[in-house]
Amino acid sequence: FALTAERRTEFEKILARYPNRQAACIPVLHLCQEQEGWVSERVLRWVAEQLGLSAAHVQGVATFYTLFNKEPVGKHQVWVCRTLSCALNGADQVLHHCEKRLGIHAGETTKDGKITLRTAECLASCGTAPMMQVDRDYHEGLTLEKVDAILDRLTR
Ligand code: FES
Repeated sequence: FALTAERRTEFEKILARYPNRQAACIPVLHLCQEQEGWVSERVLRWVAEQLGLSAAHVQGVATFYTLFNKEPVGKHQVWVCRTLSCALNGADQVLHHCEKRLGIHAGETTKDGKITLRTAECLASCGTAPMMQVDRDYHEGLTLEKVDAILDRLTR
């Protein structure tokens, strides 16, 4: 595994920001996932080697955080928040609508490899529930029409 030149520079910056290599583990895993789409065995070993940590430690971190993908995922990722505020404001309808539109269940990827649908625990945007995250963007105050518009853009 090797980072692109641009990400290598970002990697060096992370190391400079986190003299404690263990603390650098999360941002470095994010950087690798941005490039690969998921945290493979190859990525785990590389991160462990670069940071002087055991592969088991890095795997523990990657497993603990749900935002790290443990298997290949679609080009776009959709996380529907299902925690209290979102649940009370229609998260279930949002999720079912996404499942119906995409023809998959939460946790699955569309056959064309475009979208992976997931549920998430509170994404800290409770005041504008219901909400979902698409790749790096938050979409808040969702209605089914808004969900349709978002999915239309992603599947175009
Ligand atoms: Fe959904 Fe907090 S409950 S963002």
